[in-house]
Amino acid sequence: MNIENIKSQFPIFSKKINGKQLVYLDSSNSSQKPASVINRLDSFYKNEFSNIGRSIHSLSVNATNKFDETRMSVKKFINANSKEEIIFTKNATESINLVASTFGQQNIKTGDEILITELEHHSNYVPWHYLRENKGAVIKFAPINDDGDIVISELEKLINSKTKIIAVTHLSNVTGTIVPVKEIIDIAHKKNIPVLVDGCQSAPHLKIDVKDLDCDFYAISGHKVYGPTGVGILYAKKKWLEQLPPYMGGGGMISEVKKDKITYAQLPEKYEAGTMPTAEVIAFNESIKFMESVGIENLVSHERELTNYALEKLKTINSVCIVGNPKNKAGVISFTIKGVHPHDIATILDEDAVAIRAGHHCCQILHEKLKLNATARVSFGIYNTKEDVDILCKAIENCRKVFNLK
Ligand code: ALA
Repeated sequence: MNIENIKSQFPIFSKKINGKQLVYLDSSNSSQKPASVINRLDSFYKNEFSNIGRSIHSLSVNATNKFDETRMSVKKFINANSKEEIIFTKNATESINLVASTFGQQNIKTGDEILITELEHHSNYVPWHYLRENKGAVIKFAPINDDGDIVISELEKLINSKTKIIAVTHLSNVTGTIVPVKEIIDIAHKKNIPVLVDGCQSAPHLKIDVKDLDCDFYAISGHKVYGPTGVGILYAKKKWLEQLPPYMGGGGMISEVKKDKITYAQLPEKYEAGTMPTAEVIAFNESIKFMESVGIENLVSHERELTNYALEKLKTINSVCIVGNPKNKAGVISFTIKGVHPHDIATILDEDAVAIRAGHHCCQILHEKLKLNATARVSFGIYNTKEDVDILCKAIENCRKVFNLK
């Protein structure tokens, strides 16, 4: 795989940041975009723009068909059974809120339990917390061990007759832990408990096969998968989408509206109220084509090699401490430097045009467990190289010099 060729497809890398070549190590936050995606947005707005699903003029029919093509591509990309199981949302956060709200409305009553884990991003905790506030639900947290792995036997102990749903991340945005979600889904399904998987971080790094996982719900953010902002995906088994109530009400999601009665549209439109991010969804098809042109297997092995290389190099730098040591890890590495606040690390690295994220990464429960207020985080995309890692390590050495660390 020729990474330089891949990198050249991303216009941002021809720009200088602080007069230097950009080393972008914040893809878990949001990935950069290839020219094909940017150009598709541009050309759709210039030449083809129309809303979808409402008018019957040529532009609208074309836009509706193109929108549907992306849905078909997503279906194939994650191996769903049918396009009716693919709902477009704003982001993975909205996808999870949709499930928490509709599932909660229908299935949660006082004292019912929702099982999540200590690894969860706030987007897979706060929506469930609403059910604690509004319905009296109880939230339980499956613990992690010192390596940052979920302890499956402990998770299993937390399941009981009151457990109504399990919601778990596929890949931690802090430790890079790849969670054995298939194992968790098997355990849950033996007890008839549905499972939502937060695939926000896994979709850019792993092959996703919802049929093989047999998950009930899977949430993805398009902007982390080399796509535009404003596009999220909710995969849900058809039986759930048929039985759960609608989420948002408005145009596009109804079948018939009378003064005393409203019926809803068929799937997937039942869950797509109002004008959708038309251009963004259409351009997202190019992101999938880009991922497919690279090849998921190539992407996984490139990022694994890069992660191992980075871990080895970072471990040799005095006072750098890597957070977690999970059994299976993808391209996310959080670290601390003794005596330096992670925000200072990020600010000093930025002077060398090395873009990382620092803070709690929307995982305060996890940071509390780790007894850390904040961490610095490096996260890879397909465009990163070993040279990027070398520049990162040099920038960290510069940071250590600024703080006179031995
Ligand atoms: N979840 C994103 C991150 O980890 C925003 O940076």
